[in-house]
Amino acid sequence: MSAGSNVSVVEHPLVENSLVALRDVNTGTDAFRRHARLLTLILAFHVLHDLPTRAVVINTPLEEVTGYEIDRSVIFVPVLRAGLAMLDAMSDFVPGSKVGFVGLERDEQTAIAHSYYQKLPTQLETAETIILDPMLATGGSAIATVKLLKANRASSIRLACVVAAPEGLEAMQGLHPDVRIFTAALDRGLNDRKFILPGLGDFGDRYFGTT
Ligand code: PRP
Ligand code: URA
Repeated sequence: MSAGSNVSVVEHPLVENSLVALRDVNTGTDAFRRHARLLTLILAFHVLHDLPTRAVVINTPLEEVTGYEIDRSVIFVPVLRAGLAMLDAMSDFVPGSKVGFVGLERDEQTAIAHSYYQKLPTQLETAETIILDPMLATGGSAIATVKLLKANRASSIRLACVVAAPEGLEAMQGLHPDVRIFTAALDRGLNDRKFILPGLGDFGDRYFGTT
């Protein structure tokens, strides 16, 4: 991992391999979905690397042994739509995790996200809350999500994304320096339509086949 402060850029040949497939304009929907899942599995290792564990005693077919299981309540919050692409792979690692939903969509002209849906579990205060959103562009969607979570008393928040732009990172760090951000790529910047460059285009459209 690289980058400073509370931003981690996950570096791994398997991440690069999936990233290049996601970025490639010739990658079709099925392969796009497969690589989004693979990349999320790797991200999960890093996003969840320091979750506390507790000792449990179980029996193998041969003898008793002490093992360790996750000892923290975890709430995943995919930002609709694109964040849904990361939910299954991430939550597979955490039995008993809860899921909250935040629906946000950027206006195509202004790139300002407007909220159209929200449903959050209770007990955000005592959980590790992980926002799932593959693209951090202007940061507007992530900032709105963090604001909502904090208004609902979330005490420890992380953001998992696939591609981040410096503009979005700066905006997030300025307003919410306590939120730890994990990304597979830190790209160059935004174009005049606030799309990430080089980026991968519209993640939601490519994942759900709506282009
Ligand atoms: C995309 C993406 C993020 C947002 C990032 O969602 O999934 O939520 O844009 O941009 P920002 O940092 O400038 O806010 P989009 O609004 O395209 O909706 P979708 O997931 O339904 O496609
Ligand atoms: N949302 C996307 O899906 N892609 C971008 O480049 C920016 C926002």
